[in-house]
Amino acid sequence: MSAATTVPTNTAKSSLGTWRQVTARTGRHEDYGAGHRWLDLEVPANFPTPAPGQFVQLLLPWPSPVLLPRPMSVAAVRRRARGQTLGFLYAPVGAGTAALASLAPGDPVDVLGPLGHGFPLATLGTPVLVAGGRGVAPLLFAADALARGGRRSAFLFGARSKDHLVGLSEARARLARMGGELSLATDDGSRGFRGTVVGLLELVAAELERPLVLHACGPHGMLAAVADWGLRHDTPTFLAMESVMACGTGVCRGCPMPRSESSRARYRRERQSRPSLYGNEEYAMCCTEGPVFAATDLDWERVE
Ligand SMILES: Cc1cc2nc3c(=O)[nH]c(=O)nc-3n(C[C@H](O)[C@H](O)[C@H](O)COP(=O)(O)OP(=O)(O)OC[C@H]3O[C@@H](n4cnc5c(N)ncnc54)[C@H](O)[C@@H]3O)c2cc1C
Ligand code: FES
Repeated sequence: MSAATTVPTNTAKSSLGTWRQVTARTGRHEDYGAGHRWLDLEVPANFPTPAPGQFVQLLLPWPSPVLLPRPMSVAAVRRRARGQTLGFLYAPVGAGTAALASLAPGDPVDVLGPLGHGFPLATLGTPVLVAGGRGVAPLLFAADALARGGRRSAFLFGARSKDHLVGLSEARARLARMGGELSLATDDGSRGFRGTVVGLLELVAAELERPLVLHACGPHGMLAAVADWGLRHDTPTFLAMESVMACGTGVCRGCPMPRSESSRARYRRERQSRPSLYGNEEYAMCCTEGPVFAATDLDWERVE
C-alpha cells in the first residue's frame, strides 16, 4: 500500500470525559429486512448529543444472557421536548443482540456514551460516504448531519444483493434534502453497479468535484480496500472500525488496532500529553482513539 503525501488524522473531538450512563426507554423497534432491526431509544436530556461515527454501549437489564454491554453505532438522533431519541440499525448475530431484539416499547436499557471519535465531517472537500452492508448505520447519521449543515454529499452503498441494501430508503430520504447523489453496487448485479463498492468508487469519483474526502464503514476487508484507494489517490480517508469490546472506555485494553509507522512516530512525539485511556506505541485503542481512524493511522497489513 503506497503512502499518501499528506498525512490527515482524525481531528474530530474526542468524547473522553464527557460520556454519561443513563437509563433509556425503548421506543419504535421493528423488523428492517434481511435479518436487521431498527431500534429507537429515548434518552433523557442530560445525555450529550452524539456525533456521526460515535457509538454507545448498550447494557441490557437483569436478567440478561450477557454480562458485558454491546457496542452500537448511532444511526439517527432526533430531539424531543425532553431529551433525544437515538436510532440504531443492527443485526441480531449472537446472545447480546438477540436479547436486544426482544426489547418491547417502554423497556429500560442502560446506555453509556457517546463514545469515541466520530467522522471529521468538517474536513474540506466533497464528502463521499462509502457504506458496506450494515456499515450503512453511522453513515445514515453522517448524511443527515451533512444535509443539516447545507453540505452536499455523495453516498455509495454496496451489499451482496438488492435485498441486503438495508436502510436504502433512509439513505434516499436523507440525501434528498441537499440533492446528494446515491449510487448502488451489488455483488450479484441485482441492483446498480455489478461489483464491489470500491469498484463503484473508482467509477463515481471521476464525476465528483475535487477534492474528495472519504468516510466509510463496513467489513474490515472492504475498509482496507477503501483505505488503499484513498492512499493511492492522496485523498483524506476515514474509516469506522469495529473490534470486540468490553468496557468501551479505554480501561480494559481489549480492542487494539495496529498503528502505522506515522502513527507510532506521532505517539512518540506526543507521549507525555496523551490521555492514559488511549493505547500504547504499538496499538491504538479502537474505543477511545477510534472507532473512526484516518487511513494513514493504521497498519492495514495487520488489521484483522
Ligand atoms: C464501534 C462499534 C459499532 C458497532 N455498530 C453496530 C451497528 O450499528 N449495528 C450492528 O448490527 N452491529 C454493530 N456493531 C457490532 C455489534 O456490537 C456486535 O455484533 C455485537 O457486539 C455482537 O454481540 P452478540 O452478543 O450478539 O454476539 P456474540 O455472541 O458476542 O458474537 C456473535 C458473533 O459476532 C462476532 N462479533 C462480536 N462482536 C463483534 C464486532 N464488534 N464486530 C464483528 N463481529 C463481532 C463474534 O465474533 C461472533 O462470531 C458494532 C461494534 C462496534 C465495536
Ligand atoms: S473496549 Fe476496553 S479498552 Fe476498548
